[in-house]
Amino acid sequence: MVTQMALRALNPHTTRLRGWVDAAMKSASGKPDVPPLREVEGFPPAAQVEAGALSIRGLGKTYRIEDREIPVLSDIDLEIRPGHFVCIVGPSGCGKSTLLRLIVGLDNDYSGDIILDGERITATSLDRGIVFQDHRLFPWMRLDENIALALQNHDYSKAEKSRRVADYIRLVNLSGFEKAYPHQLSGGMAQRAAIARALVNEPKILLLDEPLGALDALTRVYLQKELQRIWLERRATMIMVTHDVDEAVFLGDEIIIMDAHPGRIKHSVRIDLPHPRDRTSRQLQEIREEILVELISTPPEPDHLEAV
Ligand SMILES: Nc1ncnc2c1ncn2[C@@H]1O[C@H](COP(=O)(O)OP(=O)(O)OP(=O)(O)O)[C@@H](O)[C@H]1O
Ligand SMILES: [Mg+2]
Repeated sequence: MVTQMALRALNPHTTRLRGWVDAAMKSASGKPDVPPLREVEGFPPAAQVEAGALSIRGLGKTYRIEDREIPVLSDIDLEIRPGHFVCIVGPSGCGKSTLLRLIVGLDNDYSGDIILDGERITATSLDRGIVFQDHRLFPWMRLDENIALALQNHDYSKAEKSRRVADYIRLVNLSGFEKAYPHQLSGGMAQRAAIARALVNEPKILLLDEPLGALDALTRVYLQKELQRIWLERRATMIMVTHDVDEAVFLGDEIIIMDAHPGRIKHSVRIDLPHPRDRTSRQLQEIREEILVELISTPPEPDHLEAV
């Protein structure tokens, strides 16, 4: 976990990647081994990032609507290493948000196991943060108050809370806007504030459910870079749902492609390219095409089309 002191000492603009080694080997079980973390200048060695290992085994989820049981997720197996950035793509209704809700602990009615650092998830906890497509800031609170609210269950002194809030406002480049109300922020600024609020508790895992989905294309590209910088500085495990394959291949160490009815993992693609990535590189374009082919190889089912 990066300390507050380390956070302040870091200059995002000097962050450089030193490359990493690919361990893309299939294990004896047939499941892919997760790759090692890359080394980043100014950060603790990758080997020291130990928190935030997520293991999902045989996960199933069924919703009930009146007397009808609707299987939403089935046989989900996923291993995510501490500090990795995983993107999830898949058709609307395949259960991506449901999966994030289960990981964050908003719903504990599931079969199988979701294990974070050895403990089965059964409820919400400060070690997991979530950001949604809409910022969900309280309109009557100023930016710093919105972020401080996330610390209400901590015993920190008032001064310590203020220091943490200021640190995270700085992390998302919103210094100077502490006293702004949400309606005084642009969409991109409000999303950055939501990210700061989710990170101020220093969660082991940050879950992002289409966090950039409502933004215009330019702001979106800018925030993708910001998200990458924040991820590299915080070294938290990140799991992001997105409908944008370009975004997924720009950010993700691994892309999980889901299928619907019931939601399951159809394919996963590892991207062992260093950050920041060149969006126009041939390698990235090839990976993008591979993912698109997987995504469109199953046509949407009629009930999905009706729901759109
Ligand atoms: N509370 C609920 N009760 C019953 N069914 C639900 C509930 N929440 C979600 N569902 C159903 O679960 C399925 C998956 O929904 P979910 O929101 O996880 O999909 P998604 O992949 O996030 O879709 P999108 O890309 O449109 O956001 C859908 O068929 C939805 O109708
Ligand atoms: Mg969703």
